[in-house]
Amino acid sequence: MTDLDSAVAALQAGLLVAFPTETVYGLGADACNDEAIARVFAAKGRPTNHPVIVHLASVEQLAVWSRDLPDVAVNLAHAFSPGPITFLVHKAKHVSSAVTGGRDTVGLRIPNHPVALALLAQFGDGVVGPSANRFGHVSPTSAADVLADLGDRVEVILDGGPCDVGIESTIVDCTTDPVTILRRGAVTPEMIEVVLGMMPLDPTGPSRAPGMLASHYAPRCAIVLVADITEAHAVKSTIDGRVGILDPGPDLAVYAHGLYGWLRDADRRNLDTLIVVRPANVGLGSAILERLTKAAAPRR
Ligand code: TXA
Ligand code: MG
Repeated sequence: MTDLDSAVAALQAGLLVAFPTETVYGLGADACNDEAIARVFAAKGRPTNHPVIVHLASVEQLAVWSRDLPDVAVNLAHAFSPGPITFLVHKAKHVSSAVTGGRDTVGLRIPNHPVALALLAQFGDGVVGPSANRFGHVSPTSAADVLADLGDRVEVILDGGPCDVGIESTIVDCTTDPVTILRRGAVTPEMIEVVLGMMPLDPTGPSRAPGMLASHYAPRCAIVLVADITEAHAVKSTIDGRVGILDPGPDLAVYAHGLYGWLRDADRRNLDTLIVVRPANVGLGSAILERLTKAAAPRR
C-alpha cells in the first residue's frame, strides 16, 4: 500500500489524515461522517460550534456541496481554483451541521497541491480540513510541524514538503453583494476586483468567521510589531528577558512562506519576546499583517 492508499483507507474508516496544501497543512476527515468530524474537533481541542471548510478535488464539485451557487463563486473558482481561496456559499441540504457549526453556509476550497488533489480525487468526496494544529496555535507549514502538534492523534501524515504560500487561504463570503473578504490571503482584494469588476467588502465590526479570534495564530512568546530594523533595535534595548528580532525583508512571498516556521522557531528557542518588522501593508503583505496583528494581540 502506498501512503496515499493508507490515507484514503483511513478517511474511509472515519480516521484522521493530515495532508499538505499550498497554504498550510490540513487535518482531514470524511466530510460526510459526523463521528470523524468530531474526532477532528477533539484532536485540535477546538470548540465544536466552529465551522470547518470542505476540500474538494474539482470546481465541478462546488455545485454538489452548495445550493444556488452564485455566479460570483463560479467566476472566482474558474479564475483562482485550484488555489488559495475558500468560498463561503449556501450549503447543500446534505451538508452536516457538524461541518457548518449549525450555520446555513459552508466553506468550500479546492487546494492547489498535487498530494491534496490526489487524496481528494482517490477518496472521491469532500474532506474537512481545518489547519492541522492544536486550537489557537500557529498553523503548520511542514509535516514536522504537524507531528509536533498532533503526531499521536492522526492516523496518517502525508508529507508534501514545506507549504508554498505559508498562510491560510483567502475566505470570500459569496452570499453578500458585493462579496466580502472574511480572511485575507494570497488571493488579494485587487485580484478579486479584476475578475468581478467590483471591489470586495472588508468585514466590519466583529468578524463573521468564528475562529478568527483576536489571539489566533499566536506563538507562545509575545510578539511586538515595529516599522523597521532601527526601531527593532531601539525596542529591544527596552525589553528584558530573551528577545529575538525577525526581519524577513521586502519579498512578501518569502515573508509569508517563512512566517509560521519562524514563529515556531521562536518558541523552540524559548524566546520571551519576538520583535517583528512589519511587512508593507499591500497585497500579500496585508494578509500577513492580519495574522501578525492577531499574534501581537493581548492573549486570552
Ligand atoms: O488555507 C486554508 O484555508 C487551510 C487549509 C488546510 O486548507 N484551512 C484552514 O481551515 O485554515 P481553518 O478551519 O483553520 O480555518 C477556516 C476558517 C475558520 O476561521 C472558520 O471559522 C471559517 O473559516 N469558516 C469555515 N466555515 C465557515 C462558515 N460556514 N461560516 C463562517 N466561517 C466559516
Ligand atoms: Mg486554523
